[in-house]
Amino acid sequence: QSPELQQMYDAHELLCKFYHHLLVNTKDGQEALEYLLKRGFTMESIEKYKIGYSLNSWDFVCKFLQKRKFPLDLMERAGLLIKRERDGNFFDRFRHRIMFPIHNEKGNIIAFSGRSLGEEDPKYLNSPETAIFNKSKTVFNFNRAKKHIKKEQRAVLFEGFADVIAADAAGVINGIATMGTSLTDEHVQLIRKSTDHVTICYDGDTAGIQAANRALDMLQSVGCNVRIAWLPEELDPDDYIKEYGAEKFKNEVIEASLTYMSFKMRYLRLGKRLNDEGERLRYIEEVLTEISRLTKAVERDHYLRQIASEFSLSLDALQQQQKQKFYSMQ
Ligand code: GTP
Ligand code: MN
Ligand code: MN
Ligand code: MN
Ligand code: MN
Repeated sequence: QSPELQQMYDAHELLCKFYHHLLVNTKDGQEALEYLLKRGFTMESIEKYKIGYSLNSWDFVCKFLQKRKFPLDLMERAGLLIKRERDGNFFDRFRHRIMFPIHNEKGNIIAFSGRSLGEEDPKYLNSPETAIFNKSKTVFNFNRAKKHIKKEQRAVLFEGFADVIAADAAGVINGIATMGTSLTDEHVQLIRKSTDHVTICYDGDTAGIQAANRALDMLQSVGCNVRIAWLPEELDPDDYIKEYGAEKFKNEVIEASLTYMSFKMRYLRLGKRLNDEGERLRYIEEVLTEISRLTKAVERDHYLRQIASEFSLSLDALQQQQKQKFYSMQ
């Protein structure tokens, strides 16, 4: 381990403790703490995830690190400080934000994500890419969830940190999330190493459903058995738990998640007017393409029958057309 990298880890660890102290024990952190509690975060979650608060100051962290003999240019390369072009002075990257520490697989803190307390932009400010933080390889909460994922042989993939933390408090302890950026092949490999069962639980808005469809295809292509939770009313998991509680979330969202084909059928239907003949035929065509991707004959048969009955079509004709697709895809 190079001494520079070690100093980067140490600075993150130390700041995490300090941000957390500011949030839970000081008057400066009171507004942030009230915001979190009002949103439904519990003190237990705040402790467990070591959530913190960064002061509304341009140089507090700067002085804090300097006093402890961390070289400021190194701290800039660690993403904690920003260098001002004009005079070459350093200032704090994170100011007046709720601080979420981000860990690597081994449990070292490698970055922060800071949420604004109100609606200021950006809503989340992340550490930049550094020698210790690579967004496309980092999975939030993987360090804590890994053992539960292995034990339950299932990971639950969320869109945001807030969702992971709310779900954990609701008893879903095998939750992880990417860093806001979309799922990468590296994330998929990391997940696949610990399980081949994944439940995708993205936000119920259009962006979330589209991202879920993409994540589904990626996970499926490395041999994962995937289920997809479809949240109602455009809610995200965090909103849903706040609105309907932990039990309903577990029973009616996670347990009731959709299989591959049920999701695809619902997804392909979005925005189509099925009483229009052209759109209906296009829908059937697209569903047949999906059915042809299924490897089990029994499953193909099951869904062909479902489509035949729903649209009053002859099973023979559907089977013929699906077989043509199937062979053209081999
Ligand atoms: P809350 O509003 O705090 O509940 O957050 P959320 O998790 O519901 O956020 P949202 O669904 O909008 O976004 C999901 C994830 O995308 C977040 O957890 C972040 O990782 C990321 N994200 C959201 N907004 C921003 C942003 O403004 N900048 C960056 N870099 N990432 C963001
Ligand atoms: Mn504490
Ligand atoms: Mn979202
Ligand atoms: Mn969300
Ligand atoms: Mn949310």
